[in-house]
Amino acid sequence: MIFSVRFFTVTLLLGAVLFDGICRAEETFSKNQLKAAVNECNDTYFLSQKSWDSVFTTGSLDDEKDLVAKCFFECVLLQTGAMDDKGTINSDVTKAVFLASHDGTAVDGHGELIDMCVPGRVETDTCEKAYALVKCVTVEELSRRQAR
Ligand SMILES: *[C@@H]1O[C@H](CO)[C@@H](O)[C@H](O)[C@H]1NC(C)=O
Repeated sequence: MIFSVRFFTVTLLLGAVLFDGICRAEETFSKNQLKAAVNECNDTYFLSQKSWDSVFTTGSLDDEKDLVAKCFFECVLLQTGAMDDKGTINSDVTKAVFLASHDGTAVDGHGELIDMCVPGRVETDTCEKAYALVKCVTVEELSRRQAR
């Protein structure tokens, strides 16, 4: 009896460890996975290279009224699981996605930026929300880089 209880406990523990491992594995994102999502989303919601560059060098789109471009970011966040279709953001997945977008090399305190930008997301439209998240993180990141 004692033996079987113990065995059961060990099995549970092992199960928990394995399950934890699987969950963590899901939160690492490869550059190729991100590229695949970007390409797929670009087919649906076209985002020009110029607009892409603009977002990641200035923090915003040239045309802030371009809803298709904003929905491109929504699409990428949905595809990667960083956001669900109700607009709920998963911070851990978002961190993994941003990390993959930086070739896996972490920018100083990049996780912090996401923790800072997620709670402020009050946008009701999920395209606006996704774009605002990318914008918030990028603007913060750019200003930290400049401050260095
Ligand atoms: C979207 O596709 C166009 C045309 O193939 C390409 O020039 C552009 O770089 C792509 N955008 C992104 C964000 O990859």
